Order: sequence, then C-alpha cells, then structure tokens
Amino acid sequence: MTEYILAVLAAYLIGSIPSGLILGKLIWHTDLRAYGSHNIGATNAWRTLGKAAGIAVFLADSLKGQAGVYMGLMLVGTPLAAVLCGLAAIVGHSFSVFLRFRGGKGVATSLGVLTMLMGNVTLIVFLVWLAVVYTTRYVSLGSVIAGFLTPILAAAFGYPLEYLLFTVLAATLVIVRHRENIERLLHGTENKI
Ligand code: G3P
Repeated sequence: MTEYILAVLAAYLIGSIPSGLILGKLIWHTDLRAYGSHNIGATNAWRTLGKAAGIAVFLADSLKGQAGVYMGLMLVGTPLAAVLCGLAAIVGHSFSVFLRFRGGKGVATSLGVLTMLMGNVTLIVFLVWLAVVYTTRYVSLGSVIAGFLTPILAAAFGYPLEYLLFTVLAATLVIVRHRENIERLLHGTENKI
C-alpha cells in the first residue's frame, strides 16, 4: 500500500510541473497565462509563441504522462499502479500543486499516458485528433472528440477493466476542462489555431 501512495504522489508531483509556463518564461520570456486562451498548454503556446513552442510544450507535457506511468511501473510494477499513476500525472497537470491547483486541460499529458498503456488506441486517437484539427483548425474540438473516442476504442480493443476506468476518468477530466471551449464552439467564438 505504501508503495502505491508513494508512486501516485510522485506521479502527481511530476504532472504538476507546469512545463508550458516554465518553457514560456525561460525561453520566450512570456507568461502564457496572459495571452490567447490563457491556458498553459501546447495549443496556446503554439498560438502565442509559434510552432516550436507548441511542439516543445506538447512533448514536455506528454513526457510527464509517460514519466507518471513509469513511476507506477518502477515503484510498484502492477497494471493498476501504472493506471493510477497515469491518472495522477494528468490530475497534477490540471490541478498543479505549484499553481494553487490550477493548470492545463490535460490533453498532451493524457496522450503521454496512453502511449505507455495502449499503443493502438493512441495511434487512432492521435490520427483522428489530427484530422479534426487539420480540417477545422479547432484544437479544442479535436481534443473533445478524442476524449469521447478513447474509452470506446479501449473497450473495442478489449482492454481490462482498470484500463477502461482510466480512459473514462481521464476523458471526463479532459472534457470538463474544455467546458469553456465547448461553450465557445457552440457560440461560434472559439479561437482557431
Ligand atoms: O489541449 C488544449 C486544447 O484542446 C485547447 O486549448 O488554448 O485553445 O483552450 P486552448
């Protein structure tokens, strides 16, 4: 039990590292929270600081998800620990202890977790996300659709219950974090990339 708590805590702390904020301030001397959607994620980094910033923040945020799962595998070594730690990393990203429990929307970190747990689901979800973003220029729409799609695909591929629960919880978190984007999409006022 102790090792589970330690692993989840470690994953939460890793997820809490505000990569977008740190990279934006260190390299571009810009606080992403003051621009665009005010989000610290890759989309707002791309929108505000350009392609390189967007890619750098995306990779850093994804890496946090992968590192979170790695904590579970290394410190405990069970699928349940991997899933709990992946979730903890996403929660950390969205409710960071370093940002007074504020944070990002969890898309890149969730994708990082998915790469470690479900390669086939990751590939399909990423391609669908890319297609939606490419055709509509709405990253948020791609992210929300990806959120709905992930549990469906995980079930279709026959993943075990803990994996399915993870996809439902992570997708719910991502979709709830996009509620303002969803309102803007419905009103036709959402920012494009
Ligand atoms: O990953 C976040 C994206 O789906 C929306 O970002 O900055 O447009 O709110 P943003």
